[in-house]
Amino acid sequence: MPDSSNPSSPLHLSPPDIIRWLSDKWQTSLCTTQSIYRFPQLATIGHNAPVRTVVLRAFHASPLSIQFHTDIRSAKVPQLRENPQATIHWYDPIERLQTIARTTTELHHGTNPARTAWQGLPVHGKRQYSQTDTPGAEMQAPSPRFAEDPEYGWNHFCLIVATITEIDMLHLRQEGNIRCKLTPEKTGWSRMWLAP
Ligand SMILES: Cc1cc2nc3c(=O)[nH]c(=O)nc-3n(C[C@H](O)[C@H](O)[C@H](O)COP(=O)(O)O)c2cc1C
Repeated sequence: MPDSSNPSSPLHLSPPDIIRWLSDKWQTSLCTTQSIYRFPQLATIGHNAPVRTVVLRAFHASPLSIQFHTDIRSAKVPQLRENPQATIHWYDPIERLQTIARTTTELHHGTNPARTAWQGLPVHGKRQYSQTDTPGAEMQAPSPRFAEDPEYGWNHFCLIVATITEIDMLHLRQEGNIRCKLTPEKTGWSRMWLAP
């Protein structure tokens, strides 16, 4: 039996402790650009299997959800409007741990939660949303143009709230790889072991 006070893998912790372990990684990532947990890949459903890197901006415990920011004009927005299911992927090369979260997303544009997130951004963060060209539009030269007023970016700012419906974790280990699926139930998180 694994010793839960000194687990050989975070996957051996109790399900609520695995969620606490992950939340701790996310919390630390919010204050450093060195953490891989800050820069997950967000996959949506659409033509050409769209995937891209995003910055983790916040998370909430109950229901477990994570937040990202994006430009309302970017391609991911119509993809999420058509199908709010999104998958978020992290690979931690130090722990040799892959975490995949299946989520249902909600888009906030012009809402109070979006306003709160916007007000927390520094000026250079807001400026990204003041680009006058639509993200992904063809340009004659690599010289993006921006409106003078960073507050203009508010019109394009979108908060994505992704509520986690399932977490799949794979831990690569010399003594044997292990994998489990965590699912939120009414009574708490349940774990199912999966063949790696
Ligand atoms: C390190 C890094 C962080 C990024 N963070 C974000 C982000 O938080 N939100 C975002 O919309 N795009 C972010 N991007 C840009 C996206 O990866 C992507 O190029 C852009 O959003 C357009 O994606 P789309 O056309 O699929 O919507 C980031 C890119 C990198 C390399």
